Amino acid sequence: MRKLILSMAVLCATMGYAQDTKTTISLKPDEAKNVINKNIYGQFSEHLGSCIYGGLWVGEDSPIPNTKGYRTDVLNALKALKIPVLRWPGGCFADEYHWVDGIGPKENRPKMVNNNWGGVVEDNSFGTHEFLNLCELLGCEPYVSMNVGSGSVEEMAKWIEYMTSAGDSPMANLRRENGRKEPWKVKYIGIGNESWGCGGDMLPEYYANVFRRYGVYARNYDGNKLFKVACGASDYDYNWTEVMMKNAGGKMNGLSLHYYTVANWNSKGSATEFKENDYYFTIGKAVEIEEVIQKHIAVMDKYDEKKRVGLMVDEWGTWFDVEPGTNPGFLFQQNTLRDAMVAARSLNIFHRYCDRIQMSNIAQVVNVLQAMILTNKEKMVLTPTYHVFDMYKVHMDATNIPMQIATQTKSIRNRDVAIVDATASKDKQGLVHISLVNIDVQNAQEVTVDLKGINASKVTGTILTTKEITDCNTFDKPEVVKPVAFKGAKISNGILTVKLPSKSIITLELN
Ligand code: AHR
Repeated sequence: MRKLILSMAVLCATMGYAQDTKTTISLKPDEAKNVINKNIYGQFSEHLGSCIYGGLWVGEDSPIPNTKGYRTDVLNALKALKIPVLRWPGGCFADEYHWVDGIGPKENRPKMVNNNWGGVVEDNSFGTHEFLNLCELLGCEPYVSMNVGSGSVEEMAKWIEYMTSAGDSPMANLRRENGRKEPWKVKYIGIGNESWGCGGDMLPEYYANVFRRYGVYARNYDGNKLFKVACGASDYDYNWTEVMMKNAGGKMNGLSLHYYTVANWNSKGSATEFKENDYYFTIGKAVEIEEVIQKHIAVMDKYDEKKRVGLMVDEWGTWFDVEPGTNPGFLFQQNTLRDAMVAARSLNIFHRYCDRIQMSNIAQVVNVLQAMILTNKEKMVLTPTYHVFDMYKVHMDATNIPMQIATQTKSIRNRDVAIVDATASKDKQGLVHISLVNIDVQNAQEVTVDLKGINASKVTGTILTTKEITDCNTFDKPEVVKPVAFKGAKISNGILTVKLPSKSIITLELN
């Protein structure tokens, strides 16, 4: 009999089936001290494909219902997410963007070619006023990327004056002539984007000096206090972080990091037609960001042990082949349950390092890469990734509760990846939320959470899952993947037990 059980186990393992579907978690409420900066839920909007034009902005004369030119459906969906910060105008576009072309009467605004993204003509009808007014409507902070690659210090300095000066200054007066009396509050500025690549192809030693120089002229006007983000590394380039921290660490408030979940830059794979192996590969690649973050943080800690400088993961997310028939330069991709898993697992990781990570901006908010929202003319769908952000928004500005997790692992890309991952936090009202993610396509998990003295007797929840990992929301069927109430959790004697279905994400609220 014993022999039979053993050989069954071996058989299961060979076939890739789980032998142990139990996960135990022990919360550490006594060690909860770091706040999950709400800006970890930041978004990114670039003049790329139909992110701005058609996605966020249709203009006041459009037949598509709009509020002062912004799509009303998209506005409402983003308001519901409570997005905290929005990055603009790029991306690579930022280092070719000249802000003066995007102010004043629209008919007088010069056009340009968007060389990075499809070579289309950009008419500059969405510019500084349109962006900053959008942020006001959404109630979010603007994060403006300055043109360092092809711009000048003077151009940047004047832009900051235009946006934030309250005085009788030339740029503030120009802003008033263009219809805006009071300055906007602009806290976050990025000094260059991917300055090692599309933003100027610089070496780190050179860029560190450029950053220092631009930083001097990025002035604080009339109580507006800038938070200066230096261009950080791509993925595994720890030397970039080293040089930046050594040569300019004391001059910056934040250092960025870009990490995309991409299989292979030459063959990214379909966003919707994939097999189980591809699914696990993508998740493996996504969670590798944890090791990447740890290594960048280790470098930052060497120069900044008090963690004054924020790590800003200001571009992240999945990157697949564009949808068949769409412009390859527009990066329009569908979004499945696989993307939702990537979002949830990535957010869990960002929470774990929230003592250093002050912001992250998923790429991008509408119609580009791992988008929250897809639009097609008057139609709009919310993606599975949107639903994760919606379910997770309870963690914004809440205190992270560390935990220990014992769960089965799966070897993906030569790394052991936890089948179940979780995050927990306590909000300002004292409510505790726990999010759990089971990546296993086949097996449910029995999860036991020792609450370690957290006083709760009731639990309610929401779950996101579907029949197939390839399921997505389309313009014809917009509600295939959507959250529903979850009833599979209970609390007894300080222990929370959860029957966590296969390939599912849940958020629980304890009372
Ligand atoms: O998000 C798309 C592009 O990816 C951005 O423009 C660039 O910064 C990055 O390479």
